[in-house]
Amino acid sequence: DWIMGDYIEEAVAKIREQVGDEEVILGLSGGVDSSVAAALIHRAIGDQLTCVFVDHGLLRLNEGDMVMDMFAGKLHAKVIRVDASDLFLGQLAGVTDPEKKRKIIGGLFVDVFKAEAAKLKASGQGHKGASFLAQGTIYPDVVESGGTKTKKATTIKSHHNVGGLPEQLGLKLLEPLRELFKDEVRELGVALGLPHDMVYRHPFPGPGLGVRILGEVKKEYADLLRRADDIFIQELRATIDPATNKSWYDLTSQAFTVFLPVKSVGVMGDGRTYDYVVALRAVQTSDFMTADWAELPYSMLKRVSGRIINEVRGINRVTYDVSSKPPATIEWE
Ligand code: XMP
Repeated sequence: DWIMGDYIEEAVAKIREQVGDEEVILGLSGGVDSSVAAALIHRAIGDQLTCVFVDHGLLRLNEGDMVMDMFAGKLHAKVIRVDASDLFLGQLAGVTDPEKKRKIIGGLFVDVFKAEAAKLKASGQGHKGASFLAQGTIYPDVVESGGTKTKKATTIKSHHNVGGLPEQLGLKLLEPLRELFKDEVRELGVALGLPHDMVYRHPFPGPGLGVRILGEVKKEYADLLRRADDIFIQELRATIDPATNKSWYDLTSQAFTVFLPVKSVGVMGDGRTYDYVVALRAVQTSDFMTADWAELPYSMLKRVSGRIINEVRGINRVTYDVSSKPPATIEWE
């Protein structure tokens, strides 16, 4: 609409003024905030923006290709995809503690990003090297780090944190979404031409599947989990609640599949199976501080479990998590 159009023009003018003829680097994660920031900055300064997309191997099915297709393919933005999955999985081998896993993933993320920034500077292909680091910081992040939100006083889980990165890289910060709330960021994303489904996606944690595979992370587990999770999300999108005429994806705040590295016995055809278990998790919440498990239709749960067990060889049992937060958290780790 015209209001958003005016907003974009203003924001674009501001970015151009701030950046001048300098270069900007941005870490693209596939999440809503960094995607919208990238689309907006690209609208403003085109090829002066370079996006670095670190694929840690713990993304959802086809997510990396989708991000590349959108930003490099459709928006024609400069995007460097770094396939760092071997590095991440290597460092995670043998590590079972959730907080240790988070620290390893967060730390490697920063290392890989820094290395790319340095390479970019050295490459000289039309580059003076970036002088700005762009981030998709939104207003609630600003408020949170200002300590205004008292609820966050005790950190139960250390979140993906890139604080201090601009100083370490010697870069100035560019944060064009700093004044926006999440719903405004989404509207902006749609107005900039990002697909509705990308912009209205459920939140996805920075450590990705690393905290949705309980205990040690292995490629085999991640591959199974990706396929099971994709089936769950497909069915959530496809199942419409007749009372509201909305999909169960839109009726839930976050929904995903968790990999449980235990084996249970099953039967398939004439044979006995001894395979892994997954848990489905779906919650409704307004602030993610408290959450109710979602009362998904049994018919849908039945379809999801049937499809996962039939289509994903290696998983023979599906459970549904009926725990609310508190005392359970939304993620299992
Ligand atoms: P919990 O599990 O604490 O999750 O109830 C609340 C919200 O935070 C997300 N979450 C994370 N996000 N890095 C992130 O970027 C993390 O390490 C992390 N841990 C949890 C979770 O997905 C939910 O939306």
